[in-house]
Amino acid sequence: MKAAFGTPFSEPVQKLLHQTKDNMKTTEETKETTIQVCHGPVCSDLGSPHLASAFEAKGVKVVVSGCRSQCGNAPCVQVDESIIYEATAEKIDARLEELTIQKSTL
Ligand code: FES
Repeated sequence: MKAAFGTPFSEPVQKLLHQTKDNMKTTEETKETTIQVCHGPVCSDLGSPHLASAFEAKGVKVVVSGCRSQCGNAPCVQVDESIIYEATAEKIDARLEELTIQKSTL
């Protein structure tokens, strides 16, 4: 069984994590809706890479993030300023829809 904590990230994941900071700058500049999907060991074991792939396929900008020390609530996905715990595609869709409605009423 894979250890839940202390497992070093593979080289491809480390590269993605280093790219996160650059991606965030781009997001701030463009104001594009982005979701940050934790790819820490627990979230990954509970399907966060599948969530990331599914939302990328829908055209949502996805940024990979590291462990947020919220492993007991995995998988964790941040949408705008809020973190969705025990994230599912349905929860993420609902939050994205709320954001769309908020932006359209501004
Ligand atoms: S692995 Fe995602 S919060 Fe720790």
